[in-house]
Amino acid sequence: MEYLTAKWVPPVLAALAELGVADELAEKPCAVEDLAERVGAQPRPLYRLLRAAASVGVFRENADGHFELTETAELLRADVPGSLRSAAMMFGLEPFWSPYAQIVHTARTGEPAFDRIYGKSIYQYLQENPGEAQIFGAAAAGFHGQALAPIVASYDFSKYGEVVDVGGGSGGLLVELLKAYPEMRGVLFELPEVLPAADEVFIANGLQGRVELVAGDFFAEVPPADAYLIKSCVHNFDDERAIELLRVLRRGGAPVLLVETMIPAGNEPHYSKFDDVEMMVIAGGNDRTEVEWAALVAAAGFRPSRVVRCDDRFSLLEAIPA
Ligand SMILES: C[S@@+](CC[C@H](N)C(=O)[O-])C[C@H]1O[C@@H](n2cnc3c(N)ncnc32)[C@H](O)[C@@H]1O
Repeated sequence: MEYLTAKWVPPVLAALAELGVADELAEKPCAVEDLAERVGAQPRPLYRLLRAAASVGVFRENADGHFELTETAELLRADVPGSLRSAAMMFGLEPFWSPYAQIVHTARTGEPAFDRIYGKSIYQYLQENPGEAQIFGAAAAGFHGQALAPIVASYDFSKYGEVVDVGGGSGGLLVELLKAYPEMRGVLFELPEVLPAADEVFIANGLQGRVELVAGDFFAEVPPADAYLIKSCVHNFDDERAIELLRVLRRGGAPVLLVETMIPAGNEPHYSKFDDVEMMVIAGGNDRTEVEWAALVAAAGFRPSRVVRCDDRFSLLEAIPA
């Protein structure tokens, strides 16, 4: 029953995230009537959402009947380091939710249920819906935020003067890397619509002088580099497309540092196992085992030289041009 009713939690958190409830409680606890007025909701429905969220440790109703933040609810604030507000909102968005109603279609055909419902891929959809694309971008940054420092710490990047972060999103990983290696220069390679938000991140971190932003398509060409860092991009694609992308990187002639969640053997729980289902249902991609990743980079002309474990979710595979 716990697994079956797990679906109740994300929409409640998504609604509270969208209403901005956690930000309203940042200063002090608040009566639900005041809170409802401030966030534009009805008191009774808001109370019911908060009571449910509090039952799983997100928000707390105190002895005065006022609601307050818990450590977990803090993460739903917009302006805290590691904020998960956008991630909570993303998981409540229809395009990330409705495909699961058609998951059997994916099981029967292998086609992402997303494509069946929307008649296009998630990538095309996000290009046509900038508002949702913005939430998706911010969600990826927040959702992976806690992994960035461990990724940078797990590998010696000192031999590279210039690193291109391919599909680097809003630049969080590059910021962490450039802060750890003060001599290094970085290039953020992304779709043009993503670059303005990344620019703001580099400026906010005082790194604009050490970073170049380059717009482009990673299926066409990437700029020259001492190393290509590519995180959470290749898993969006099936093997054929993934090899195509890796071959574009291979033409650059530099090592590739591929950061992905890698599926461990055995029955133990691991983030990658359900992330893989998400990829299958929504994106048409897949997560892979270490052995599968090694075979994939080899098929694109690299020698997989080693894998380091970064944290409980991510590993880094170093691939040298063969
Ligand atoms: C799942 S996100 C990963 C972002 C970031 N690397 C991270 O780990 O948070 C995939 C990224 O690939 C970018 N992307 C998608 N298609 C691309 C293309 N054809 N060329 C360059 N970047 C692309 C997207 O804009 C998005 O930021």
